[in-house]
Amino acid sequence: MATNITWHPSLSRHERNQLRGQRGFTIWFTGLSASGKSTVATALEQHLLHIGLASYRLDGDNVRFGLNNDLGFSEKDRNENIRRIAEVAKLFADSSTIALTSFISPYRADRQIARDLHASASQPGGDDGLPFIEVFVDVPLAEAEKRDPKGLYKKARAGEIKDFTGISAPYEAPEAPEITIRTDLLSVEECVRKIVDYLAEKSLID
Ligand code: PPS
Repeated sequence: MATNITWHPSLSRHERNQLRGQRGFTIWFTGLSASGKSTVATALEQHLLHIGLASYRLDGDNVRFGLNNDLGFSEKDRNENIRRIAEVAKLFADSSTIALTSFISPYRADRQIARDLHASASQPGGDDGLPFIEVFVDVPLAEAEKRDPKGLYKKARAGEIKDFTGISAPYEAPEAPEITIRTDLLSVEECVRKIVDYLAEKSLID
């Protein structure tokens, strides 16, 4: 824990949003491996960029090549993985960018920490916390296992990967996500439309 540090105030969020012409917030995708998190988040990022909104996707596998390359898949490491990503997403959102995160994020308590971190990012002068939208990418385990694009479920069943989510490590489904998408029942475009409609309904985008 660092001591002797001082928080430096900068532009208010309201001013920054005004200057950048958009609101920043975080869309937090959670779901099993191979549930479709990255596919839908990528399509949504493309859609948002095409309509002129700055957005950026943080992806589980990718972030583990750099920022989180010291972390594995124990419960403790996953806690730390999600804690760091929540902090990074908050920074993106605070910079008036739409942060899209696609991590399994299997523990409810970790996702709650991410949500609370955004809520507590209120600023003096009336700025509210940063909006946090949890998207549950819900597919039955059997469907994710059938897809198995990286062959990881097969390896996990054979005991070659330990602590594999859904097989030998838990996945705690969200109890009250803002949005649920069934990627086995809807097309990618339909999933994106459902999220975009929600954002417009909440006046987060025009
Ligand atoms: S977590 O639980 O949120 O910390 O995981 P995340 O950072 O999203 O990383 C998930 C990707 O890592 C690969 N992988 C594993 N997933 C689950 N359990 C184990 N043991 C594991 N080992 C490697 C896998 O490719 C996951 O990617 P997705 O896109 O979810 O399939």
